[in-house]
Amino acid sequence: MSHTSTKRRANGEASEQKRPTGKLVGLDIGYGHTKIAMHDGTRHLFPSAVAAIPPSTVEQYGAPVADDEVVVEEIRCIVGHRAIAHPDRFDNLHSVWWILPQYRALLQQAAKVVPPQSVVVTGLPLQAYVASQARELVKNLVKSILKAKRVFVAPQGVGAYYYAYGQSDSLKENQKIAIVDIGTRTTECIAMAGRENLPTHSAGLELGVSDLYHTVARELSEKLERQVDPYEVEGVIRREREIRAQGRGYDPQAIDNRVSHLAAARAQDIRHRLVGLWGERAPEFELVVFCGGGAHLLFPFLKTYREGAVLLPEAQFANALGFLDIAAMMAPEELIHDAPETHDSGSPALPQGAEAVAG
Ligand SMILES: Nc1ncnc2c1ncn2[C@@H]1O[C@H](COP(=O)(O)OP(=O)(O)OP(=O)(O)O)[C@@H](O)[C@H]1O
Ligand SMILES: [Mg+2]
Repeated sequence: MSHTSTKRRANGEASEQKRPTGKLVGLDIGYGHTKIAMHDGTRHLFPSAVAAIPPSTVEQYGAPVADDEVVVEEIRCIVGHRAIAHPDRFDNLHSVWWILPQYRALLQQAAKVVPPQSVVVTGLPLQAYVASQARELVKNLVKSILKAKRVFVAPQGVGAYYYAYGQSDSLKENQKIAIVDIGTRTTECIAMAGRENLPTHSAGLELGVSDLYHTVARELSEKLERQVDPYEVEGVIRREREIRAQGRGYDPQAIDNRVSHLAAARAQDIRHRLVGLWGERAPEFELVVFCGGGAHLLFPFLKTYREGAVLLPEAQFANALGFLDIAAMMAPEELIHDAPETHDSGSPALPQGAEAVAG
């Protein structure tokens, strides 16, 4: 797997020819993080955390709405970092959360950076994707809230396939690839034969990494006598924040060790399911690819599943970047004015049904 692929040109600087409105957009709204990749190379990532601000009398006189706030059904909502550890935070670990107000809040936050009239490709977990009602609902929501020109909904891991294909010089168009996208709540195991998804060899598992962080957060809440949010634990693992109580920071190494112990056990669960789905070493597949933010945590324990298994660069953004590639294929006319590009010759065709569901 090459980082300097000839198939993909790096997402470079914003083009001077960029149009004021309308972009190609890959949008991956995960249970843990919302990832947005745009054709001019811009990326956005924010926690898919939403908290409601209960109405108060002040609001009746028009309280200001901050940059990280949106209004859903007349209720102000905080979206992203500030919602973490907020007492009125919505729970998003729900199987049908795209019908809930918090999903709309995330889309409204995304709408602040996605220009109207964009071509948007987004995803759903495989289990939800197979239900046409879910696809339609998400497509219509995205279309109306982002004021998109066209929307296409794909299974989440399929995005990663297009990204992996663009990254590799050695992959051929018709080869079989197995993709393991380890997310917050789900692990998507996607089998592709070229652009075709093999449904009988694909599975959406409710096995992510969030409950690891939940477990550690619960343990720390007891120990530190204050409520610790799972995102705080995750922030420590990424060395982006520290957990403080009584004026002191908690030892990050102790948190690493505990998470690592739980991660090894979770990797075993996933390996077991991979063996059930694809066999002991996935012999039918040319390549086994790991992605999703959870792969950063679990790949060290899972790479022995198959010799030559790959952890995609930018694992957490793999779906969003692949969705962007699909958008570029769906709307090549946008590329003429909106360089830089993602694919040149040799890209696989659109996923099946792309035109049928593009709105
Ligand atoms: N470098 C890293 N080290 C450790 N954990 C990481 C790293 N990068 C991301 N993660 C964690 O991996 C988890 C999964 O991230 P990801 O954004 O792929 O999930 P998601 O797409 O929101 O979830 P789902 O696919 O289940 O909807 C998150 O909890 C994230 O914080
Ligand atoms: Mg995901």
